Amino acid sequence: METLQPKPSFSESDLETILVSKEQIDQRIKSLASEISTQFADEDLTVVCVLSGALVFTADLIRKLNVPTRLDCIRADSYGNATESSSPPRIASALKTDIAGKNVLVVDDILDTGNTLSAIVDHLEEAKPASLKTCVLLDKKERRQVDIQADFSGFDIPNAFVVGYGLDFAEHYRHLPCIGSLWPEFQILR
Ligand code: XMP
Repeated sequence: METLQPKPSFSESDLETILVSKEQIDQRIKSLASEISTQFADEDLTVVCVLSGALVFTADLIRKLNVPTRLDCIRADSYGNATESSSPPRIASALKTDIAGKNVLVVDDILDTGNTLSAIVDHLEEAKPASLKTCVLLDKKERRQVDIQADFSGFDIPNAFVVGYGLDFAEHYRHLPCIGSLWPEFQILR
């Protein structure tokens, strides 16, 4: 007999736990933007958004910055449609702008094993920026495999696969305003 699978609604009701609320995100982004603006006061900043996960975070963050800001994007392929990384990340699309001699802030959604951010940092260092800092919204410290720390970090979270606010499961849930973990029955590729 066929067993009936519950259908995901791709909304907040598919979340078992909300780890970070919309209000917490809004508040933390304000304080991060203020820290970053203070650090780069009177300087130009090139923000490099790591697609696609950091898109929502970057869009909110840059609108709170008080410094002249350029925006570029980079893409690193790591997880595909699964919840675990398999092979080392590959830089899948390069920058459009020349960052030589520029102050660069790489913005990513989550620092997990550290493989992705460290590959991106190594790649960008080759372009000889004047300075290179990193900013992540979430940090899963206990999963780290590479010795890397973000210069600016929003929230430490436990070891759970999370979605929402730019983070996806098979490209779903990026639009959710909060961050949480899915009920196990919805962590199945359909
Ligand atoms: P690493 O392990 O290289 O991972 O630090 C960084 C990238 O992996 C993705 N990632 C996640 N995506 N929920 C997601 O939707 C998660 O819990 C998660 N953990 C890692 C993400 O793209 C990040 O940039």
